[in-house]
Amino acid sequence: RDEPLVLGIETSCDETGIGIVRGTTLLSNTIASSMDEHARYGGVVPEVAARAHLEALQPSIERAVAEAGIALSDLDAVAVTSGPGLSGALMIGVGAAKALAVSLEKPLYAVNHLVGHIAADLVAPDAERLELPTIALLVSGGHTSLLHVRDLTTDVELLGETIDDAAGEAFDKVARILGLPYPGGPEIDRAAVGGDPAAIRFPRGLSRASERERHRWDFSFSGLKTAVARWVEQRADSGDELPIADVAASFREAVVDVLVTKALDACSERGVPRLLLGGGVIANRRLRDVALERAADAGVAVRIPPLSLCTDNGAMIAALASQLIMDGRAPSTLAFGADSTLPV
Ligand code: KG4
Ligand code: ZN
Repeated sequence: RDEPLVLGIETSCDETGIGIVRGTTLLSNTIASSMDEHARYGGVVPEVAARAHLEALQPSIERAVAEAGIALSDLDAVAVTSGPGLSGALMIGVGAAKALAVSLEKPLYAVNHLVGHIAADLVAPDAERLELPTIALLVSGGHTSLLHVRDLTTDVELLGETIDDAAGEAFDKVARILGLPYPGGPEIDRAAVGGDPAAIRFPRGLSRASERERHRWDFSFSGLKTAVARWVEQRADSGDELPIADVAASFREAVVDVLVTKALDACSERGVPRLLLGGGVIANRRLRDVALERAADAGVAVRIPPLSLCTDNGAMIAALASQLIMDGRAPSTLAFGADSTLPV
């Protein structure tokens, strides 16, 4: 049995994720979310998230171990997200992982959350999983990043990321402007049904020629959010009814357009005919459809792992550590800490 049995702990945001993998086989992947506790604030509250992780970790580990049909003592290694993410939330996971590894006398692997999102596809249940090299687009409530992945454990290049709001955050903020509840992504999707995506031309952030030099692969969504707010205000002043379906569809189109355009430009400029999508915003039907359609025209193969592996989870962390072990890489020393801005 040279396939390592690894337990992964993910606590970078509002999901307490515990995943267990053996090599590239997924054994269990439990998620406890504190989303409901953040709903009335319209976004994740770091202190609330950290406290929720503290309460959820022990029962989540027990459940993941039971579902995998293993004993903790069977583990070959423990893995944990050390960053990037919310400091307090990360610290709870890192502390738990160290305690578990020390008490079991097993090696501990500290891994990067973004690289974990890509590694998630290693344990997807189907045959078409992760092929390298690939361009990866990761979009969630916490991040919007474009990466060029040549080797998962030695060569991951961050091409660009958002310079202000994450794409999911933009969905959440615009939902609020439209009077819709949190989380905003699914609400905007519902509101956009029957809307005309071309009704209002909202700005595509960082797409102008003058911005392309410095921010070729970066994203910006705060100007878009402001544009929607201003449009809604002006409409309210005019006394006309708000065409909510058109606003939602047009906003969503602006986000999707800029994400897909930059991702496919990266594929073509880097000569990489593959695009991997990840993160909770990938749940967006319109994003998937536009990506698949335009990628087909560009001769790019799009890979979308199952949604349970796209949103934050522990299996992706275990999968990455499992790969590190199979590549013969040494474990982390216990000296590492949580790093909210950990680079890839
Ligand atoms: O990866 P994820 O579950 O976790 C965090 O980032 O914490 O992503 C959650 C984000 C939220 O901002 C939510 O509004 C967004 O993903 N989201 C969506 C959709 N479903 C969830 N955004 C757009 N369309 C959706 N259907
Ligand atoms: Zn994430």
